[in-house]
Amino acid sequence: MKNKNKTIWANRFKGKTSKSFQRIGSSINIDKRLYKQDIIASIVHVQMLVKQKIIHKIHGKKIINGLNKIKSKIDKGQFNFQEKFEDIHLNIEKKLFEIIGPTAGYMHTARSRNDQVVTDFKLWVKESTKDILKHISLVMKSIIKKANKNTDTVMPGFTHLKNAQPISFAHHLLAYYEMLKRDKKRFENNIDLLDECPLGSAALSGTSYKIDRKYTAEKLSFKKPTENSIDSVSDRDFAIDFLYSSAICAMHLSRLAEDFIIFNSDAFNLINFNDSMLTGSSIMPQKKNPDPAELIRGRVGINYGKLNSMLTIMKGLPTSYFKDLQDDKILVFDGYDTLKDTLIMSEELINAVKPLKDKMLRMANKGFTTATDFADYLAKEKNLSFRESYSLSAKLVNFAEKNNKTLDQLSLEDIKKIYKDVDKNVLKILNVKNSMNSKKSYGGTASNNVAMMIKKYKKEIK
Ligand code: ARG
Repeated sequence: MKNKNKTIWANRFKGKTSKSFQRIGSSINIDKRLYKQDIIASIVHVQMLVKQKIIHKIHGKKIINGLNKIKSKIDKGQFNFQEKFEDIHLNIEKKLFEIIGPTAGYMHTARSRNDQVVTDFKLWVKESTKDILKHISLVMKSIIKKANKNTDTVMPGFTHLKNAQPISFAHHLLAYYEMLKRDKKRFENNIDLLDECPLGSAALSGTSYKIDRKYTAEKLSFKKPTENSIDSVSDRDFAIDFLYSSAICAMHLSRLAEDFIIFNSDAFNLINFNDSMLTGSSIMPQKKNPDPAELIRGRVGINYGKLNSMLTIMKGLPTSYFKDLQDDKILVFDGYDTLKDTLIMSEELINAVKPLKDKMLRMANKGFTTATDFADYLAKEKNLSFRESYSLSAKLVNFAEKNNKTLDQLSLEDIKKIYKDVDKNVLKILNVKNSMNSKKSYGGTASNNVAMMIKKYKKEIK
């Protein structure tokens, strides 16, 4: 019992650790999130030590029983995490001594906290990446569902936020499906890259015990063991990959949220949300504000910040383990929590969006959005060069603007003033819905195209 409050390294030390450093240097409040990974990695490590006859079977059994007891204590919230034992690894080891006595001392054979922490962390990042992948898929499904109802909903497509050409609301939404599909691929690639087990690298140089690292790797569901013990304990690429992928994904959702905020503004007035995605004002009784969308837009700042911090911690860090690395976890945990909330909110936001179809159609007619169609028509039907047609179409736009008309309000006579040799078919060219449906090139906005893409997406997302 005398040892109960002592650190593992107490015998080497005469003086006590500074109280303030104990608080600042302890990571237990953060890395207790790794307890499941720490315990499973310890169990597998001990099984390997027994298999290799490095420790006795009976000791192995006792340790594993003790570890399982600790796990169920933590599961039930009955574990007293202690700052003075720094981190999750030493909290668990200390507890093991308390439960099974000196036999606990065999557990830390042929390993170090340096390979232990990176193994736990990789396991956590792998599992959390899968969770993020699941949530990205949910957002993609909500996009498909909303798009499916809006392949015929005409709205103005914008460049420079100026009306450009008519598109469908579905096509606009599905742009985000593609972005998220790439995000998923990025996260999947990360799993492939991190899938090597560092356990058994020990402090930095490997170990003289006859350990079986392939066995450990396999049992922990890694593809293989890492191949350089120094790199193993100092590599945090996987944390950066996770934060980078999270930052991009959050950036995509921030753009979606911003689109929605603009479309929902009184100036644009193209979409509404269910009340579930709106909040009121404490002073202005009429207000309905899109706060969830604004949080999605803003919180990408947190994701960028975490990535930047991690990159900075790694810059110029000499090779192998340093305490600097301890702060990797709070960054990744925060990055994960933030992105997960963003994904949850995004799914709900997309489900709650209601296009105001009449207003979209009306706005699609503003800004002479079929001017390109008229130019294309002249080029195709009248054998003019595109530049000549473009110039004639500009004249038509000027004429319409001067007469305060939208292009679809022009009469055949009006058009004939610009180009004589046209018949009434030209009027169809200036119709926004026809314009949208004429964009049949692969990846274009025509309703049939988009419906075909939705079919493809539905198959691939399952
Ligand atoms: N808590 C430490 C971390 O998160 C574990 C590794 C500590 N190793 C050491 N030699 N101090 O990085």
